[in-house]
Amino acid sequence: MRPLFRSASLFIAAVAIPALAAACGSDSVPADTAATVTQRAVISAANPSDFLAGDVDRGRRRFATEACGACHSTGSNRVVGPGLAGISARGDDAYIRQSVKEPGAVVVKGFPNVMSDFSRLDDQTVEDLVAYLKTLN
Ligand code: HEC
Repeated sequence: MRPLFRSASLFIAAVAIPALAAACGSDSVPADTAATVTQRAVISAANPSDFLAGDVDRGRRRFATEACGACHSTGSNRVVGPGLAGISARGDDAYIRQSVKEPGAVVVKGFPNVMSDFSRLDDQTVEDLVAYLKTLN
Protein backbone atom coordinates (compact mmCIF):
# COMPACT_ATOMS: atom_id res chain seq x y z
CA MET A 1 0.00 0.00 0.00
CA ARG A 2 1.14 3.55 -0.70
CA PRO A 3 2.04 5.72 2.26
CA LEU A 4 -0.62 8.38 2.67
CA PHE A 5 1.86 11.23 2.42
CA ARG A 6 4.75 10.68 0.06
CA SER A 7 6.44 13.98 0.77
CA ALA A 8 6.50 16.84 3.20
CA SER A 9 4.74 19.10 0.69
CA LEU A 10 1.87 16.63 0.41
CA PHE A 11 1.58 16.57 4.17
CA ILE A 12 1.53 20.36 4.26
CA ALA A 13 -1.12 20.53 1.53
CA ALA A 14 -3.31 17.88 3.06
CA VAL A 15 -3.02 18.69 6.75
CA ALA A 16 -1.30 21.99 7.46
CA ILE A 17 -3.20 24.21 5.00
CA PRO A 18 -6.68 23.17 6.17
CA ALA A 19 -5.47 23.42 9.78
CA LEU A 20 -4.17 26.94 9.11
CA ALA A 21 -7.37 27.87 7.34
CA ALA A 22 -9.34 26.64 10.32
CA ALA A 23 -7.06 28.53 12.72
CA CYS A 24 -7.67 31.78 10.86
CA GLY A 25 -11.34 31.50 11.71
CA SER A 26 -14.40 32.14 9.63
CA ASP A 27 -13.89 35.94 9.76
CA SER A 28 -10.73 35.95 7.65
CA VAL A 29 -11.35 32.85 5.51
CA PRO A 30 -14.68 32.66 3.73
CA ALA A 31 -16.26 29.27 4.34
CA ASP A 32 -16.27 28.23 0.68
CA THR A 33 -12.56 29.02 0.32
CA ALA A 34 -11.66 26.88 3.31
CA ALA A 35 -13.85 24.10 1.93
CA THR A 36 -12.17 24.35 -1.47
CA VAL A 37 -8.70 24.20 0.09
CA THR A 38 -9.65 21.13 2.10
CA GLN A 39 -11.24 19.47 -0.92
CA ARG A 40 -8.16 20.09 -3.08
CA ALA A 41 -5.91 18.74 -0.35
CA VAL A 42 -7.93 15.55 -0.08
CA ILE A 43 -7.93 15.05 -3.85
CA SER A 44 -4.19 15.74 -4.05
CA ALA A 45 -3.35 13.35 -1.26
CA ALA A 46 -5.14 10.65 -3.22
CA ASN A 47 -3.27 11.53 -6.44
CA PRO A 48 0.32 12.57 -5.69
CA SER A 49 0.95 12.86 -9.43
CA ASP A 50 -1.37 15.88 -9.58
CA PHE A 51 1.46 17.88 -7.99
CA LEU A 52 4.00 16.91 -10.62
CA ALA A 53 4.34 18.36 -14.09
CA GLY A 54 5.90 15.94 -16.56
CA ASP A 55 8.85 17.17 -18.62
CA VAL A 56 8.84 15.97 -22.22
CA ASP A 57 12.62 16.14 -22.77
CA ARG A 58 13.41 14.34 -19.55
CA GLY A 59 10.82 11.73 -20.48
CA ARG A 60 12.37 11.25 -23.91
CA ARG A 61 15.81 10.71 -22.37
CA ARG A 62 14.41 8.33 -19.78
CA PHE A 63 12.57 6.34 -22.46
CA ALA A 64 16.01 5.79 -24.02
CA THR A 65 17.96 5.00 -20.84
CA GLU A 66 15.28 2.59 -19.55
CA ALA A 67 15.40 0.86 -22.96
CA CYS A 68 11.64 1.06 -23.43
CA GLY A 69 12.52 1.08 -27.12
CA ALA A 70 13.71 -2.53 -26.90
CA CYS A 71 10.03 -3.47 -26.84
CA HIS A 72 8.23 -0.38 -28.16
CA SER A 73 8.51 1.63 -31.30
CA THR A 74 7.55 5.29 -31.08
CA GLY A 75 5.58 4.79 -34.29
CA SER A 76 2.73 2.40 -34.80
CA ASN A 77 4.59 -0.82 -35.59
CA ARG A 78 4.52 -3.71 -33.16
CA VAL A 79 7.82 -4.82 -31.62
CA VAL A 80 7.32 -6.92 -28.45
CA GLY A 81 4.75 -4.40 -27.21
CA PRO A 82 2.47 -2.05 -29.09
CA GLY A 83 3.81 0.93 -30.99
CA LEU A 84 3.23 3.91 -28.72
CA ALA A 85 2.16 6.45 -31.33
CA GLY A 86 -1.32 7.70 -30.56
CA ILE A 87 -1.26 6.35 -27.01
CA SER A 88 -2.99 9.48 -25.71
CA ALA A 89 -5.98 8.65 -27.90
CA ARG A 90 -6.13 5.15 -26.39
CA GLY A 91 -6.11 6.19 -22.77
CA ASP A 92 -5.90 9.12 -20.37
CA ASP A 93 -2.94 10.08 -18.18
CA ALA A 94 -4.03 7.65 -15.49
CA TYR A 95 -4.05 4.78 -17.99
CA ILE A 96 -0.59 5.64 -19.36
CA ARG A 97 0.78 6.08 -15.84
CA GLN A 98 -0.61 2.72 -14.79
CA SER A 99 0.71 1.05 -17.95
CA VAL A 100 4.23 2.06 -16.88
CA LYS A 101 3.96 1.40 -13.15
CA GLU A 102 1.79 -1.72 -13.19
CA PRO A 103 1.98 -3.25 -16.66
CA GLY A 104 0.12 -6.35 -15.55
CA ALA A 105 -2.93 -4.39 -14.36
CA VAL A 106 -4.31 -3.95 -17.89
CA VAL A 107 -2.79 -6.12 -20.60
CA VAL A 108 -3.35 -4.80 -24.10
CA LYS A 109 -5.40 -7.29 -26.10
CA GLY A 110 -3.31 -9.41 -28.43
CA PHE A 111 -0.06 -8.83 -26.53
CA PRO A 112 1.76 -11.01 -23.99
CA ASN A 113 1.99 -9.90 -20.37
CA VAL A 114 5.78 -9.59 -20.50
CA MET A 115 6.49 -5.92 -19.88
CA SER A 116 9.30 -5.41 -17.36
CA ASP A 117 8.54 -4.14 -13.87
CA PHE A 118 9.15 -0.38 -13.62
CA SER A 119 7.59 0.10 -10.19
CA ARG A 120 10.99 1.37 -8.97
CA LEU A 121 10.55 4.56 -11.04
CA ASP A 122 9.61 7.54 -8.88
CA ASP A 123 6.44 9.56 -9.53
CA GLN A 124 8.30 12.42 -11.21
CA THR A 125 10.00 10.06 -13.66
CA VAL A 126 6.69 8.39 -14.48
CA GLU A 127 5.09 11.81 -15.12
CA ASP A 128 8.02 12.71 -17.41
CA LEU A 129 7.49 9.48 -19.35
CA VAL A 130 3.74 10.13 -19.58
CA ALA A 131 4.37 13.67 -20.88
CA TYR A 132 6.74 12.31 -23.53
CA LEU A 133 4.50 9.42 -24.58
CA LYS A 134 1.63 11.85 -25.12
CA THR A 135 3.69 13.66 -27.79
CA LEU A 136 3.93 10.48 -29.91
CA ASN A 137 1.66 10.52 -32.90
C1 HEC B 1 10.23 -6.46 -22.19
C2 HEC B 1 9.47 -5.65 -23.12
C3 HEC B 1 8.95 -4.30 -22.62
C4 HEC B 1 9.67 -3.24 -22.10
C5 HEC B 1 11.15 -3.16 -21.79
C6 HEC B 1 8.72 -2.16 -21.93
N1 HEC B 1 7.48 -2.56 -22.32
FE1 HEC B 1 5.77 -1.43 -22.28
N2 HEC B 1 4.69 -3.02 -22.91
C7 HEC B 1 5.21 -4.24 -23.30
C8 HEC B 1 4.13 -5.12 -23.74
C9 HEC B 1 4.28 -6.55 -24.22
C10 HEC B 1 2.95 -4.37 -23.61
C11 HEC B 1 1.53 -4.84 -23.95
C12 HEC B 1 1.00 -5.75 -22.84
C13 HEC B 1 0.62 -4.97 -21.61
O1 HEC B 1 -0.31 -4.16 -21.69
O2 HEC B 1 1.28 -5.16 -20.58
C14 HEC B 1 3.34 -3.05 -23.10
C15 HEC B 1 2.47 -1.99 -22.87
C16 HEC B 1 2.84 -0.70 -22.63
C17 HEC B 1 1.96 0.44 -22.64
C18 HEC B 1 0.47 0.42 -22.99
C19 HEC B 1 0.38 0.47 -24.50
C20 HEC B 1 -1.00 0.58 -25.09
O3 HEC B 1 -1.07 0.57 -26.34
O4 HEC B 1 -1.99 0.68 -24.38
C21 HEC B 1 2.72 1.53 -22.35
C22 HEC B 1 2.25 2.98 -22.26
C23 HEC B 1 4.07 1.08 -22.16
N3 HEC B 1 4.11 -0.28 -22.34
C24 HEC B 1 5.12 1.90 -21.85
C25 HEC B 1 6.42 1.46 -21.61
C26 HEC B 1 7.49 2.31 -21.15
C27 HEC B 1 7.39 3.81 -20.92
C28 HEC B 1 8.59 1.52 -21.01
C29 HEC B 1 9.94 1.90 -20.45
C30 HEC B 1 9.96 2.55 -19.15
C31 HEC B 1 8.19 0.17 -21.39
N4 HEC B 1 6.88 0.19 -21.75
C32 HEC B 1 9.04 -0.92 -21.42
C33 HEC B 1 6.54 -4.62 -23.28
C34 HEC B 1 7.58 -3.85 -22.76
